[in-house]
Amino acid sequence: MQKFLGQFFSNLIRKKNPDEFLEQSNAAGGLKKTLGAFDLIILGISAIIGAGIFVMIGSAVIGTTERVGAGPALVISIALVTVACIFPALCYTEFASMIPVSGSAYIYTFATMGELPAWMMGWVLMLEYAIGTIAVASSWTGYLIKLFQGFPFLPECIKNPPIWIVNDYSSAVEAGGNIPHILGIPVCFNLPAMVIITIIALILLKGIQESANFAKLMVFVKVAVISLFIAVGAFYVRPENWTPFAPNGINGILMGAFAIFYAYIGFDAISTAAEETKDPQKNLPIGLIGSLVICSIIYGLVTIVLTGMMPMGSIDLKAPIAHAMNFVGQNWFAGAISIGALAGLTSVLLVLQYGTTRILFAMARDGFLPPMMKKVHPKFNTPWVITILSTVLILIGSLFINMQVAAELAIFGTFTSFVIVCIGILILRKTEPDRPRPFKVPCCPWFPIIGIVFCSGLMFVALKEVKTSAMLFPLWIVLGLVIYFIYGYKSNRKIVALKLQKSTDIPEKIEEKV
Ligand code: ALA
Repeated sequence: MQKFLGQFFSNLIRKKNPDEFLEQSNAAGGLKKTLGAFDLIILGISAIIGAGIFVMIGSAVIGTTERVGAGPALVISIALVTVACIFPALCYTEFASMIPVSGSAYIYTFATMGELPAWMMGWVLMLEYAIGTIAVASSWTGYLIKLFQGFPFLPECIKNPPIWIVNDYSSAVEAGGNIPHILGIPVCFNLPAMVIITIIALILLKGIQESANFAKLMVFVKVAVISLFIAVGAFYVRPENWTPFAPNGINGILMGAFAIFYAYIGFDAISTAAEETKDPQKNLPIGLIGSLVICSIIYGLVTIVLTGMMPMGSIDLKAPIAHAMNFVGQNWFAGAISIGALAGLTSVLLVLQYGTTRILFAMARDGFLPPMMKKVHPKFNTPWVITILSTVLILIGSLFINMQVAAELAIFGTFTSFVIVCIGILILRKTEPDRPRPFKVPCCPWFPIIGIVFCSGLMFVALKEVKTSAMLFPLWIVLGLVIYFIYGYKSNRKIVALKLQKSTDIPEKIEEKV
């Protein structure tokens, strides 16, 4: 019994040598290496500038019924969040330059903490990417309707569509609209969100280079609109609007940081593209840190301009940027903002759906998912089975999960992955101090420790306020454990046994790998 338990626990923490990931990726033919530093910065901006700037900034400034807002001091919250992200970003860079394969934090956890933590990491990353997709797609619907409403000639059913085709189940029921029933079951679905998720999946099926080109176009549109907002809005800034600067003190600043953290969800997707990056040692750090700094500056400038344009009480919760332009009489600009927002949200979706497929693909390669899921399309070189399957699951999720809850769960998932990656760097520095590191986190262990403290601190502060998602998060973890013990544990044992069999001719290698 003791032997069995000993073996069982050592299976759970069976680590995979980083070289194994590289070998595995090369042996499988790998994915096309087409991305450069500029593509990665675009990928980062694609992920960061979306609902965070076009929607969440309003509630981060003025607060909601559940949490207080930061006021103009949101600019300090943004600095805090940038710090909270920069240290994990450095850790991601060290890992991604050492193990440039698809899979991000999931791979790094497998290399440092072992099998079960790796599966759980991948599972938590699904909160950030797959559940995050649902939240962003939901905001996409909101802006699409807003855009339609700007065209008076459109029919009423398009400008104000029935509630049951533009909402998830719970929001539609809550709104109390006239919902049709089939066999006594209410029928509600967010049609625009489902359509955009499907279109993006089709683009991803075609290939990463095609996706990157599409992302560049979207990034160009949204950055142009945001820059125009900053340039035009600056003329309407009245410094007296910045007083009081921090109406809710430190608590307001911290809750503002939690809300605006939503903006940074998905930026770590850059590391999921490591396998498809040319010269990853050089390009990954530029992509990760570059996009983080550029976007933080943009967020800071938008906050300064927005809070200077009007008194805090006049800031809108749903479409703060467009409303600010209406407030100063620049109505023409509101339509342009909706177009920019749609472009922004579309590019975020592209990154989140891309990340979902690449992480699941890496997990399938390791045997956590059935073998057919690691199939790569012979012509497009994309993981087509996993792309189709994950899209179907996301579409089903979008029927039921409320946008606010999805956003908060995605935030928890992101915080958790940042903390684990920082811990992973500390472990690998101890266990493999001599492994060549093309990029090294400076001031180790202090920088990873600061990352851990900032991210877990912000998560802890938020836990008290966001009750529903704070309850669902542990449930997600338990579900992950159940799935692992039903499928992943057994399937990994088979894979390990097979490897043992194959390497009987070089016994010294067996010990190393198992
Ligand atoms: N970072 C993404 C956005 O702001 C989730 O939309």
